[in-house]
Amino acid sequence: MSGAEPIPKDIKAYVVYPWWKRMLRLRARDLPRVVRKLRGLAVHDDFTDIYRAVRPFTMLNHSRARALYDGVRQVVAAGVPGNLVECGSARGGSAALLALTLKGLAEPPQSRTVIAFDSFAGLPAPSLENPDYELARHWTGHCRGDLDAVRAMLAELGVADLTECVKGLFQETLPQRKPGPIAMLHLDGDWYESTRVCLEHLWDCVSAGGIVQIDDYGAWAGARKAVDEFLAAKGVPLTRLGYVDPSGRQLSK
Ligand SMILES: C[S@@+](CC[C@H](N)C(=O)[O-])C[C@H]1O[C@@H](n2cnc3c(N)ncnc32)[C@H](O)[C@@H]1O
Repeated sequence: MSGAEPIPKDIKAYVVYPWWKRMLRLRARDLPRVVRKLRGLAVHDDFTDIYRAVRPFTMLNHSRARALYDGVRQVVAAGVPGNLVECGSARGGSAALLALTLKGLAEPPQSRTVIAFDSFAGLPAPSLENPDYELARHWTGHCRGDLDAVRAMLAELGVADLTECVKGLFQETLPQRKPGPIAMLHLDGDWYESTRVCLEHLWDCVSAGGIVQIDDYGAWAGARKAVDEFLAAKGVPLTRLGYVDPSGRQLSK
């Protein structure tokens, strides 16, 4: 663990790079993101309120939060069966977004649960399987969410009854807490081994028409490697990965 070492400047710059600067460097693949952003400004739905409520507790930017919100609404509208599962919750903001979105939809109460898996002890040390290990290792122990604080935040936002938090390493908790059918899967565990173990345990649980959103595909080479390898082994072409923003990708199963 090298928590005492400073986080390299280039990672910080990526994480905090403002959206309006990215807007100035648009490419064709950015179009869906821009449309989402403009629609968010023009159409009033409850996303703005939800994002404002969870913003202090999440590292997700507007685009990835919006994609998650739209994904939940899409699977619920299409009647895709299953729970909403998140692997990598940290301070709980994105799990709260899933739960608040669900709560705002006209489904019978308690018909779905948000299951949030996390060590609640910060990022584990990455393995050498991560091509960007030299950068990744600086993040060991970062992004820590305290489980009691997460539960208090979920209660404060009125979604504690919709959300179950599962504490421990994915490698230990996923074989034990089987989440049943999944309508929406949010993978935000950053590292190769964290992403891979989630795909191995959860991919087959994702219902037909269910959505998988990967937060770190463009940000961490380990997450990208795990997704690329897994999809290749399953015979799923990479073209099925929809572009959310420079980091996020979404796939409809
Ligand atoms: C980038 S943070 C998640 C951010 C969060 N989704 C948000 O809204 O801000 C990554 C999280 O993944 C968790 N994590 C990564 N690998 C893990 C593993 N193998 N087992 C359990 N938790 C893991 C870390 O504890 C950390 O909280």
